[in-house]
Amino acid sequence: MRQRGKFITLEGIDGSGKSTQLPRLVRYLRSRGVKLKVTYEPGGTRLGDRIRRILLSGKTSKLDAMAELALFYAARAQHIREVIEPALAAGQWVLSDRFSDASMAYQGYGRKLGRAAVDQFERAVCGRLKPDLTLVLLVDPAESLRRARARETRRNSTRGRFEAEAVAFHRRVQAGYRAIARREPRRVKLIKAGRGVGELQEELRRRVDALLRRAGASRRTGKKKR
Ligand code: TMP
Repeated sequence: MRQRGKFITLEGIDGSGKSTQLPRLVRYLRSRGVKLKVTYEPGGTRLGDRIRRILLSGKTSKLDAMAELALFYAARAQHIREVIEPALAAGQWVLSDRFSDASMAYQGYGRKLGRAAVDQFERAVCGRLKPDLTLVLLVDPAESLRRARARETRRNSTRGRFEAEAVAFHRRVQAGYRAIARREPRRVKLIKAGRGVGELQEELRRRVDALLRRAGASRRTGKKKR
């Protein structure tokens, strides 16, 4: 039987530097011979991208927090069935720019919906699917919000719904990520991001190396058994 792929997710508040780090990590994993599917949330499917536009647009007004949570999980359900599960089952690794932890951090903590509400959606939509490794970039919320907003100005785009939130919201989100990491220290790694691009990438690669070693080891054990 083909060995199932590994599932890695990258998380962090807006402006934490994910988009600079992700392509570098992709290049690294591929250079190590990993067959990799790269994807993102909300989105990654046609339906997901339509939902993404609703969720991120500053023009979407008066979106109830529970409706927001449900939309993120609707996009996720489609993403899992259409992209993530088939890739993992085929032995590919999946690297996703955000996944369920974002809903816990942003909606559970940021919007204050609480853990129970998010956990219910999580069980219904994701079942037992969990990332094998989650890398969370930690930054100073005020600084990263400035960066995220500057990026929007450069792109000439109108302010998105999440970038429009106050620093206090982004602080709660980051506190949410820390809380998740305390609950699941084996899976979720907090990584201080306020340093050079190369140095930060080195640390991400070290974390991923540990997973590569584990995968290599289980492949070998698998072979022995046969
Ligand atoms: P992105 O800018 O990294 O593409 O993420 C889109 C925004 O959506 C970002 O502000 C985080 C937010 N988000 C949530 O609030 N909940 C979620 O479940 C996900 C996946 C993203």
